Amino acid sequence: MKDIHLALRKASIAIIAQNQAPSGAYVASPNFGVYKYSWFRDGAFIADAMSASGENQSALKFHLWATRVILGREEKIASLIKKSRQGEEIPIDDHLHCRYSMDGKEAPEEWTNFQLDGFGTWVWSLNQFILRNGTLPTSTYRAVDSLVAYMVEFWKSVSYDWWEESFGHLHVASLGSIAAGLHAVTAWPELSEETRKVAAETYVIIRSFILTHGLVGERLAKWIDGVGLDSSTISLIEPFRVFTKEDSVTTPTIQEVGDQLGILGTFRHVDDQYFGGGKWPLLSCFLGLSLIEIGRTDQAEEILDWVASVADEALQLPEQLTVPLLHPEFRDEWIKRWGEPAIPLLWSHAMYLSLLAALNTKR
Ligand code: BGC
Repeated sequence: MKDIHLALRKASIAIIAQNQAPSGAYVASPNFGVYKYSWFRDGAFIADAMSASGENQSALKFHLWATRVILGREEKIASLIKKSRQGEEIPIDDHLHCRYSMDGKEAPEEWTNFQLDGFGTWVWSLNQFILRNGTLPTSTYRAVDSLVAYMVEFWKSVSYDWWEESFGHLHVASLGSIAAGLHAVTAWPELSEETRKVAAETYVIIRSFILTHGLVGERLAKWIDGVGLDSSTISLIEPFRVFTKEDSVTTPTIQEVGDQLGILGTFRHVDDQYFGGGKWPLLSCFLGLSLIEIGRTDQAEEILDWVASVADEALQLPEQLTVPLLHPEFRDEWIKRWGEPAIPLLWSHAMYLSLLAALNTKR
């Protein structure tokens, strides 16, 4: 391994470990006010990267924190499902939140809280943990049981996307995250046969729904019945493996995201105005993981080197780069609102670690 990767691997693990609360929650970024929470989405990818890097105790602590968050809301979940089955419309603010304080409480500020992808991603990451370590605490299986029912009931509800925007659509990346979570549990003997069956059936339905309504030509669309492109959809290839190299959507999706949104630095989508819309290193890592799947390992290696090149002197990785920007006219307004973009972002370090681990396995 090159010296820079030895150093950045060590720094990434240390940055994540230092920013894991005693409760097990990972703060999204320590230096950025609104990111002082733990998201299911970020946290699941971070825990997976830590476990892929041999830091299983850290991952387990996060999983136990997330388990407590869900079990503390078991009744709420059951009641939402019951109401929905009775035909009641559920106001989006009544749903589970996407992020929690270190001690597992809902954040008081107004936020785009209704995002289902994080729960699917968390369940997917639990399966990764099982594949490496054998099993999970009993309480976690119980939390998953509740979440499977929740996702099965609500996957078709319009929510906010990975980027906490674009309400009013069924986002392909969110559907893919849910599908990955449902597929993950289908072989867990700890769950009831009924739960596994409904998870497997819903997985098949979501996957074919995406193939029927979520494509533009041969590639994945940003949302169902739309024509947009969003780099979050790459996750359906790797790491979620809803689509693999055997599927006709895989190469065109990788190609289009790379061509339109960038490889060495990847934009979220062309309309991104957040801090002016910079390139996200973590998205290049998703692309790198997917390039390995289609045999383009050399390009994935280039991405890994590029990500290391954008770390600052303290080996911290940012959420996004400040040049180039897609919509520079919006940058100042965000800086006035929230300060400079987040650095370090734990999720960026996590995706770097995941790409590094995948390439090390390949070598
Ligand atoms: C991103 C989310 C992320 C959050 C915390 C937001 O700006 O859009 O995907 O979960 O930051 O990192």
